[in-house]
Amino acid sequence: MRILVTGGCGYIGSATARLLERHGFEVFVVDDFSEGHRGAWKGAVEEFDLRDATKVQDFANRESFDGIIHFAARAYIAESVVQPLRYWHANLVPVIHLCEAFPQVPFVFSSTCATYGEPDVELLSEKLTPQPVNPYGATKLAAERVLQDRAAADQGDFVALRYFNAAGAEAEAGYGEHHDPEPHIIPRAILSAMGLLNEPMSVFGMDWPTPDGTCVRDYIHIEDLADAHVRALQYLFDGGTPISLNLGTGKGHSVLEVLQAVEAATGKSIVWHAAPRRPGDPARLVADPALAKQVLGWTATRSELSAIVDSAVRWHAASPQGYLS
Ligand SMILES: NC(=O)c1ccc[n+]([C@@H]2O[C@H](COP(=O)([O-])OP(=O)(O)OC[C@H]3O[C@@H](n4cnc5c(N)ncnc54)[C@H](O)[C@@H]3O)[C@@H](O)[C@H]2O)c1
Repeated sequence: MRILVTGGCGYIGSATARLLERHGFEVFVVDDFSEGHRGAWKGAVEEFDLRDATKVQDFANRESFDGIIHFAARAYIAESVVQPLRYWHANLVPVIHLCEAFPQVPFVFSSTCATYGEPDVELLSEKLTPQPVNPYGATKLAAERVLQDRAAADQGDFVALRYFNAAGAEAEAGYGEHHDPEPHIIPRAILSAMGLLNEPMSVFGMDWPTPDGTCVRDYIHIEDLADAHVRALQYLFDGGTPISLNLGTGKGHSVLEVLQAVEAATGKSIVWHAAPRRPGDPARLVADPALAKQVLGWTATRSELSAIVDSAVRWHAASPQGYLS
């Protein structure tokens, strides 16, 4: 089976590409390297921007696939609030191009908990009506709708995987999270503890309606995410019907708890300051992961925050400059 992995030189895409290969799939990556790293994926790769319809169609004229896993996107909520049109181009247009160029090919889509908005419930379930509160979540929800309409017209089935906060590393294998600048809390906190961040960390809002006043998120290890993608592909190959599924642990951790976990794992202090709330940030995003278990037989196997943080710390210790080390 030959699988196209878009964004396969990025953080989650490369973890999935590597796992697919270990499962015996032939993997072909497309990436424009706007964020990705050549060191993250050693197999077949072609460089182009999926926003370019002609390039996508030329590629489809040359290559055929049994399945597509589409990771390529921009994924920063705060940036999406100030550059919404950039997000509509980056996150919706490639989905349309891929659907046009590869009719009938089963499609696994990187969606997000940001589609939900901020419903006032402990655990977010797929039964809720998504009401995104930032452009990033809105673009991902719109892409899910494109895939629903494609499936309804018998043009190909899909699974949309709504990840909560991807985290952790495959430290022993030499793979981890490297964005420049790094916006995500765990790697930023580790870089801060290692003295590699040139500014104090900002904690955005200390007055949220949460136990310690900081935002609560559900952190999910990239190897668990990768496993869910392989299962989603198999589900589609076995005739599974289109569906959107949460990928999370069901446990929430506050920003301050994450900083404490990084301090415990590194034995170093983090310098941080309280900053105003960021527009577009919901207070609490924690998954109800029951449906993914029921449909894919998937559960998070690394659900302790300390284990997730430890793996990231080991990667940063071994590769302080990320893939440039
Ligand atoms: N990281 C998270 O916590 C998280 C949570 C929920 C959903 N997601 C989704 O998961 C996916 C992967 O996230 P990530 O953290 O690995 O991001 P990433 O930035 O590390 O990876 C994205 C990859 O896509 C490539 N890319 C982006 N736009 C492209 C384009 N137009 N054409 C070709 N390649 C392009 C980038 O170069 C990069 O290698 C994204 O769709 C994101 O929205 C991520």
